[in-house]
Amino acid sequence: MTDSILTLKDVSVTFGSLRAVNSVNLNVSAGQRRAIIGPNGAGKTTLFNAIAGVVPISSGTIQFNNTDMTRFSTSKRASLGIARTFQITNLFPRLTVEENIQLAVRGLSAHKFSMLGSGQPLAQEQESIELALVNSQLISKRSIETKTLSYGEQRQLEMAMALVQNPKLLLLDEPAAGLSPAERVNMADVINALPRDLTLILIEHDMDLALGLVDYVTCLHFGGVLTEGTPAQIRVDSQVEEVYLGKPRHA
Ligand SMILES: Nc1ncnc2c1ncn2[C@@H]1O[C@H](COP(=O)(O)OP(=O)(O)OP(=O)(O)O)[C@@H](O)[C@H]1O
Ligand SMILES: [Mg+2]
Repeated sequence: MTDSILTLKDVSVTFGSLRAVNSVNLNVSAGQRRAIIGPNGAGKTTLFNAIAGVVPISSGTIQFNNTDMTRFSTSKRASLGIARTFQITNLFPRLTVEENIQLAVRGLSAHKFSMLGSGQPLAQEQESIELALVNSQLISKRSIETKTLSYGEQRQLEMAMALVQNPKLLLLDEPAAGLSPAERVNMADVINALPRDLTLILIEHDMDLALGLVDYVTCLHFGGVLTEGTPAQIRVDSQVEEVYLGKPRHA
């Protein structure tokens, strides 16, 4: 037994001849906040897909809470406590904030209630919805049509739809992508204020934003782990600088 909530051993994902994820080892301890950084096409989203069970891995093992879940379905992994947000926004624009969250609950639940009919969420589901609204900082927007939200608020809503699943591990894929500088600051505040016992893995291109939010960083390059370290170590890492700027530090 370890205090590691997520352990990847030698995980690879191949698409034809492309090794999008190449022998990745990853150890994330419970309650840790981890950033995954790396240039476009480095394999970050594919790694999330492998953890969530959306793409099959071609080799390696994935353990969650000391359970080997390498062969588990996406829904089984979700029921164990893995939730994610997506790089691209995926909401029902004509429904309210709360209705979108209800749909996310309904997708999980054996108890199906009708969104537009008479059925109501169970008390326990409603409790999760309230908590998701609080933690995503959307409580004051609950009755607003989603299409009238700012883009930043839409990304918060996606987070709420993941949080309503009461995850132990939350995977955030570029939560600040496409946001204005002011919205980025707000999103960072929202992420920062998430419950400390929730383990977070965050993909983010904005280095300042990412490094300000996490305890530890993994940099991917061509599908493999280039380097890992604390934000302070990553800030001065010459390999990281090289892959981001495309030139060695002292060139
Ligand atoms: N379903 C797929 N089929 C074939 N190739 C894919 C598939 N998904 C991803 N790839 C390829 O795998 C590589 C890694 O892609 P991935 O989306 O994981 O990168 P990323 O690090 O998330 O990049 P970005 O920062 O641009 O989001 C890329 O070369 C991509 O074109
Ligand atoms: Mg990606």
